[in-house]
Amino acid sequence: MKLTHAAVVAVASTIATLSSGAALAAADKSCDQGKYSAGDKMWLTGASEGDHFEIAAGRIALERGNASVKALGKRLLNDHTNALKEAEKVSRELKIPLKDKPSPSQEWILTMLQKPGVDFDATFADLAVRDHHQDIEETQEAADSGCSMAVRTLARNTLPILKQHLEMAEKIKK
Ligand SMILES: [Fe+2]
Repeated sequence: MKLTHAAVVAVASTIATLSSGAALAAADKSCDQGKYSAGDKMWLTGASEGDHFEIAAGRIALERGNASVKALGKRLLNDHTNALKEAEKVSRELKIPLKDKPSPSQEWILTMLQKPGVDFDATFADLAVRDHHQDIEETQEAADSGCSMAVRTLARNTLPILKQHLEMAEKIKK
């Protein structure tokens, strides 16, 4: 069976909705211990998974994409390599261990992106738009209501980069 662009995106967005977004919204944000909240920890570890995901996706885009998808892939690869380094600093400061690879659902998306039957450019742009909408929502939440100053600062510094990625992906989708 040929895997359509729509099928990959539909499954990917269902997985995304079922996973981090809802859990993060429900996470305990109480800040009584003065250090970091459960929500901070969930955002930081989720961000590290997202960084690994976008670094890997960026590499695939550089191999398979048209010129504008390659340009987006290069930005994802470079920016999320830097973002991961910043997350590692916060991880050391707060002693929150990060993830060292994408989540299982993100691994599935990476596998799908490498299948020969996929309409690569359209699928990649669509996934990048959906992924960044969700990332921006979660990062805005961490920037506004994170308990730890280090988490809030990292989230605030990350937001403009995520918005640039969304803008690039939206232009490709048009
Ligand atoms: Fe990104």
